Amino acid sequence: MNYYNHIVETIGNTPLVKLNKVSAGIKGTILVKVEYMNPGNSVKDRIALKMIEDAEKEGLLKPGGTIIEGTSGNTGMGLALVAIAKGYRCIFTMADKQSQEKIDILRAVGAEVVVCPTNVEPEDPRSYYSVAKKLNKEIPNSLYPNQYDNLSNYKAHYESTGPEIWKDTEGKITHYAAGVGTGGTISGTSKYLKEQKADIVTVGIDTYGSVFKKYKETGIFDSNEVYPYLTEGIGEDILPKNVDFSTIDHFVKVTDKDAAIMTRRLAREEGLFVGWSCGSAAYGALEYAKEHLKDGDVMVIILPDHGTRYLGKVYNDAWMRNHGFLEERIFATARDIIKRRNGYTKLTTVNKNMKVGDVIGVFNIDGISQLPVADKDHFVGSVHETKLLNSLIQDPSIKDKPVSEVMDPSFQFVGMDNTVDVLSSLINKDNKALLVRDEANKVHIITEHDLLMALTR
Ligand SMILES: Cc1ncc(COP(=O)(O)O)c(C=O)c1O
Repeated sequence: MNYYNHIVETIGNTPLVKLNKVSAGIKGTILVKVEYMNPGNSVKDRIALKMIEDAEKEGLLKPGGTIIEGTSGNTGMGLALVAIAKGYRCIFTMADKQSQEKIDILRAVGAEVVVCPTNVEPEDPRSYYSVAKKLNKEIPNSLYPNQYDNLSNYKAHYESTGPEIWKDTEGKITHYAAGVGTGGTISGTSKYLKEQKADIVTVGIDTYGSVFKKYKETGIFDSNEVYPYLTEGIGEDILPKNVDFSTIDHFVKVTDKDAAIMTRRLAREEGLFVGWSCGSAAYGALEYAKEHLKDGDVMVIILPDHGTRYLGKVYNDAWMRNHGFLEERIFATARDIIKRRNGYTKLTTVNKNMKVGDVIGVFNIDGISQLPVADKDHFVGSVHETKLLNSLIQDPSIKDKPVSEVMDPSFQFVGMDNTVDVLSSLINKDNKALLVRDEANKVHIITEHDLLMALTR
């Protein structure tokens, strides 16, 4: 039988997958290492296991012990899985700005979560950092792994990520790229790869608002480089011990916006439903690749985690729009079109029994070109001004007939979140308008004119 004794035995050996669409036009082969295939859905499973096993070897953690870390996410998940396998208790301290889902996820895998205030200095005794340290002091046989300065982090990648990439590319890798947070992923992997082939080029991906790039290029730790940014997991305002600058050849900085848009492209165009820092890594690496890769080169990019943790952010259109990360023109939806009418929301309809002559009158008074035909609360048909006039010219007697005798099928209903490109593909000579029902059960009409306005404003 082919099976594992515990889920943590499945950590590592993640697949390399070729990029096809987002890398179009770039020379060489661009591969991504899909770390969400780890059981905790991130690259951090690797370091969680190594930090705990090294602590056990050094006698820092004994059976029945407690693992304490200040974490909001991936590392916590990895530690929780390892704790289950090995019978440890887990306590995580988290800032209260983190979403309830993140707390729930860690509790789901048995961790105790202590929620601490966000708006206090790290030194404040209430900060998640101070609380973790205090718990570590007070609880006997407890371990505070500290992924930033614990070199087991770096070693995990030297021992697993590096050799896997070397083996899976059959030594053909020429360029390696990864985001830099604690630095363990980039430095451990790069050290191994450069030991196999010294001229492999390693590209570190940094964020705007972080100190790494300037420090590498000038040797200066410039606190002016530090300002708030949104991307999670990469960039720092400190120099963690796990960043070994000698293993990194170049840094590329990526904005929150470019990263967020690339993250969505990876999901939609490559089928890679990945996290935000994956967009940073891919965007920065591809920018570098555009200029430097030659035919025959092989670049490997690390994609650290899964998209589920970012459903409320980069994968949420409203959030993206609020941050100015979406191009309105392309991504405007039926909801946006209705909102822009500034309160003009009245939908004119005509009853199916209304005479054709009276319907023409409605067109004239309201200055509209098409109308839904209703029977009580149901939409049973539609009429278009020009078509109705042509019918009248051909047969003036229809003036006194009910509109139901000459009407066309009802306009098609669409969803509030359908985008303009989808809406315009549904409007044609036979379907002159669309209907949409909002959450309050109110029906709105979207016409060709609305789409033109949305596309040109
Ligand atoms: C989502 C995500 N991406 C990238 C990284 C960067 O990896 P490393 O810490 O090994 O530099 C992290 C680390 O915290 C992360 O959480």
